[in-house]
Amino acid sequence: MQAMPIDHIKTVPPFLYGTAWKEDRTAGLAELAIRTGFRGIDTANQRRHYYEAGVGQALAAVYREGLASRADLFLQTKFTYVDGQDHRLPFDPSAPVSVQVEQSMTSSLEHLGTDYVDSFVLHGPASGYGWTRTDAEAWQAMIKELDSGRTRMVGVSNISLRHLEQMEGAHDHQPAFVQNRCFARLGWDREVRAFCTERNIIYQGFSLLTANIDVLRHPLIRSLAEQVDATPAQIIFAFARKVGMLPLTGTTDAEHMRQDLASLDLALPADVVSSIESIAG
Ligand SMILES: NC(=O)c1ccc[n+]([C@@H]2O[C@H](COP(=O)([O-])OP(=O)(O)OC[C@H]3O[C@@H](n4cnc5c(N)ncnc54)[C@H](OP(=O)(O)O)[C@@H]3O)[C@@H](O)[C@H]2O)c1
Repeated sequence: MQAMPIDHIKTVPPFLYGTAWKEDRTAGLAELAIRTGFRGIDTANQRRHYYEAGVGQALAAVYREGLASRADLFLQTKFTYVDGQDHRLPFDPSAPVSVQVEQSMTSSLEHLGTDYVDSFVLHGPASGYGWTRTDAEAWQAMIKELDSGRTRMVGVSNISLRHLEQMEGAHDHQPAFVQNRCFARLGWDREVRAFCTERNIIYQGFSLLTANIDVLRHPLIRSLAEQVDATPAQIIFAFARKVGMLPLTGTTDAEHMRQDLASLDLALPADVVSSIESIAG
């Protein structure tokens, strides 16, 4: 399989700001995130959960105010199959999936006011059981977007080890990213992370807090937070970075934005990392 050029991977910021479920607050919150220091924005052309055009409004404001330029930012969007959408579709549902991918990308670029994104992600495979012919068609269309320069990298989301192994067997081009909900009770997605590490794929972890409420309340996390004068949420994000993840946060709170970014400077000793890793796994 073809690996990602290393210079592309170097341009990925250490934290992504997620824009799901923000509706008409999307523009204001995405702008605030960039103002606070986030340089990576995650969105999707899936109006049901994201307002991608609102991200575009934030970007226009950010450029106007001179807070950042397009080149300073890492923009990630997704292609979502019709089954994951509501009636507000960014493509013709009667067209072949390869055309839907192309139409979705054209629409994303319009929403975001740019001629390229940094990362284009398949929101989730068509079936929970394995990598299908539909997924193969979508992935090949995404590789075409890579070749044409409309995206710099490609990725997959909501994906199992089985999917990844089948995908690897079916395609020459491997994803630069895997974006998954990261459950502590599954060893923080240990198997998928190991697959990614071996192949230089960046693992993006989402719902690190909301999927792991018990961990946030765990005595080990609480005492560690007290020791290093941080919040439990900061410990989780620092841990995620330390084990090689690229974390996402979808906070709507200015102070939490600052705290989430500040967690990047928290140093956790190696033995603490392994005990957090085994809390719920
Ligand atoms: N690929 C997919 O299918 C998929 C699915 C879900 C999400 N995502 C992406 O991932 C992004 C993040 O989603 P998420 O599920 O991780 O987050 P989220 O659901 O947006 O929630 C983050 C939660 O944690 C809280 N929080 C954040 N920072 C905190 C801090 N420092 N201290 C205490 N609480 C804090 C937030 O509350 P406050 O708002 O009060 O801070 C919020 O309740 C989404 O916006 C989206 O971009 C992708």
